Amino acid sequence: MAYAAFRSIGAYVPQKILTNEDLAEMVDTSDEWITKRTGIKERHIASDDEYTSDLGVKAARQAIERSGIALEDIDMVVCATISPDYFCMPSTATIISTKLGLKNVTAFDISAACTGFVYILSIAKAFIESGMKKNVLIIGAEKLSAITDYTDRGTCILFGDGAGAAVISATDNKDEAIVDVHTGADGEYADLLMTPNGGSGSAHDALEEEAGVFMQMKGNETFKVAVRTLTKDVKEILEHNNIASESIEHFVPHQANYRIIKAVGDALKMTEEQVVLTVHKYGNTSGASIPMAINDIYEAGELKAGEMMLLDAFGGGLTWGSALVPFSPLK
Ligand code: UT7
Repeated sequence: MAYAAFRSIGAYVPQKILTNEDLAEMVDTSDEWITKRTGIKERHIASDDEYTSDLGVKAARQAIERSGIALEDIDMVVCATISPDYFCMPSTATIISTKLGLKNVTAFDISAACTGFVYILSIAKAFIESGMKKNVLIIGAEKLSAITDYTDRGTCILFGDGAGAAVISATDNKDEAIVDVHTGADGEYADLLMTPNGGSGSAHDALEEEAGVFMQMKGNETFKVAVRTLTKDVKEILEHNNIASESIEHFVPHQANYRIIKAVGDALKMTEEQVVLTVHKYGNTSGASIPMAINDIYEAGELKAGEMMLLDAFGGGLTWGSALVPFSPLK
């Protein structure tokens, strides 16, 4: 049987920075409030002519270069995004594939909001373990600034742009393999976090008013469900695989809010050294946040071959997920 190994990571962050002070000039907020309630100090914003696929391509090129796998051997590209270049079609994954020069690949997007990267990891694992694909490029890419309402202080302070990518490939060596991926969803909570306009569920007059495809969130309720769901899910994946939290080298949570990360980390008795934090400098980049965070520890020289990562994420849908992933580079 083939196993799926996490070979490499790459990321890209747009140049422009939007600070809390900048936001305080746009809406009724302050650096003090944002820092205290979220831990975010700044986020990066793509330029007008930089699309989600452009961010994804830059992250993907880096991940492929670092993987030791030839570009032409990539046989599937999956992109997790809620801010695709074009709603409906073509998929951002197909645009990324073409920009990379890939031919004859299977390419598609998935919509699982901030849990997107965990979902595409499970898809890569399943395709590889079934023998259908050998080298899968997975990308979390978001230009959330395109779907953020910069008059709504409850959401605009949270989100940023960026992309992260990883190459997952087949191996016979079980020690290198992704141990487990959990994914879940519950549409009962759909109204907590949504883009109500722009789809077939929109009121027609909302479309006519060009209400835009902006995110809306019931932040405080989302926060409570997030802490509860994540703590339960992460405990379950550790117990199910008989792995103690002390043996996790890197706990890489979705970077939505420092207080959520701290609450879940504390419930799992994770030390500060184990918890990977990037929310202060990137804000919430939805499906891109986990691979961007993994890339940060990789580039800091802190992610070594064989080390175990525990990923967890939570987002619109609602969706959630967790994964136990050893870092298994080929070179
Ligand atoms: O990534 C996907 C999942 N998303 C999340 O997990 C996000 C979860 N939610 C959160 O991170 C937090 O709920 C927020 C950061 C969005 C909000 O923090 P909170 O501590 O839950 O605040 P709140 O919504 O309960 O609002 C408290 C007060 C309210 O004022 P009153 O009613 O007490 O007078 C808000 O109007 O803070 C006010 N407020 C603000 N004040 C200054 C809300 N946003 C702001 C703001 N600046 N930006």
